Amino acid sequence: MDTPLVIDDTWSASRALRAIERGSRLLWQGDWHTGKQVVAALKRRLRPRESDFASYRRARGRQMRVVNSVLVRIDSSYGVEARRAPDVRRACLLAYGVGRGDRLVPLQELLGVIGAEQLRLRGVEVPALGGRIHPHYGVFAPTRSEYADLVARAPLDAVGQAFDVGTGTGVLAAVLAKRGFAVTATDLSPRAVECARENLTRLGLTADVVRADLFPPGRADLIVCNPPWIPARPIGLLDHAVYDENSQMLRRFLSGARDHLEPGGQVWLILSDLAEHLGLRSRDELLKLIESGGLAVAGRSEIAPRHTRAQTARTRQGGGGRGGGLLAEARAREITSLWRLAPAIQH
Ligand SMILES: C[S@@+](CC[C@H](N)C(=O)[O-])C[C@H]1O[C@@H](n2cnc3c(N)ncnc32)[C@H](O)[C@@H]1O
Repeated sequence: MDTPLVIDDTWSASRALRAIERGSRLLWQGDWHTGKQVVAALKRRLRPRESDFASYRRARGRQMRVVNSVLVRIDSSYGVEARRAPDVRRACLLAYGVGRGDRLVPLQELLGVIGAEQLRLRGVEVPALGGRIHPHYGVFAPTRSEYADLVARAPLDAVGQAFDVGTGTGVLAAVLAKRGFAVTATDLSPRAVECARENLTRLGLTADVVRADLFPPGRADLIVCNPPWIPARPIGLLDHAVYDENSQMLRRFLSGARDHLEPGGQVWLILSDLAEHLGLRSRDELLKLIESGGLAVAGRSEIAPRHTRAQTARTRQGGGGRGGGLLAEARAREITSLWRLAPAIQH
C-alpha cells in the first residue's frame, strides 16, 4: 500500500479533504484533539443529504471512506503516536486482543474503540432481564431493548429446548433462559459468541453459545431470531448486525427454520418494519417468505421503540440533511413485531 502523507495541526480539514480526494491516505502526527476536530469537520462536510435511500447509503459510504483515510499510528503496546493522546491501552486490548498493535488505524475507528470500552464497562440496563448487558466492541448493543420485552411477554404453553439464532450479546438467550428454556445460542461472529458467553455467566444463567451459521445441530421447541432488519449492503463493522443485503439472512432463516423445529414447535421472528417505511421490503414480501418456508402466522405482538425521539435526534445529527431526515422520518413510524410462526398445515 502507498505510504501515507504525514499531516499535523497546520492542516485544515479542506486541505485534508483535497489530499484524500487525490488518492492519499493521511497519517495524523499532530495534537490528538485537533486530529479529532479535523475528523469531525470531514464528517460534517460529507454528511449525506440525499433523499432516496440508495443515494443516501452511497454518500454514507463515501463519507466513511474519506473519514477512515485519516490514520494514527498505534505502537506494539497500544500507545498512540499523537500529542496529548489518551491512554487507549485497555480499550484496544478489549477491542483488538493481544498483539495487534504497531500499525496504522483510522482515528475514527480508535474513537469507536474508546466508546465501546465505556459501553462495555457501563453496560446497558435491560428491563426485561432486570439486569445489565455488557456489549463488546463490534457486537450489536441492545440499547433499544424493547424487543426483549416482546420475548419476555409472548404467550407460551410449555418450555423446552430453545435456539436463539444470531444471539449478539446474548440478550434474548438470557430472556429465554430466565423463562425456563434450555437454550442453545448461535452467532457467526466470534466476538458475539465470546460476548454472549460472558453476559450469560455474569447474569448467572446457563446456555450453550456456539459459533454457527444460523442453526445449531438438532431441533428445538422454540426458535427465536432477531435478524439484521435493513435489506441493504453493510458498510462498516457494526453494519453487519443491522444490514442484510437482499434479506439473505432472513430468507435463509425462514426457509430453514421449519426443519429445525420439534413437532408442535414455534418460530419467533423479531423484525422492525423500518425497511417497509424506507420502501426496501414490503409487508407482502415478508409474508411470502414466511409462507414459502412452510410457516404460517400464529400471532403477532408489536411495540414502538421506546427511544424513538432520542434516536431520531441522533439520526438528525449523524445522518443530517434530507438523507438523515429520510431515516428519521422512517424511524418515527417504526414498529417492531414479534411474529409467532408455526408450521403451516399441508394439504
Ligand atoms: C440484529 S443483531 C441481533 C442480536 C441479538 N439477538 C439481539 O437481539 O440483540 C443480528 C445478529 O445476527 C448475527 N448474524 C448475522 N448473520 C448470521 C448468521 N448467518 N448466522 C448466525 N448469526 C448471524 C449478527 O452477528 C448479529 O449478532
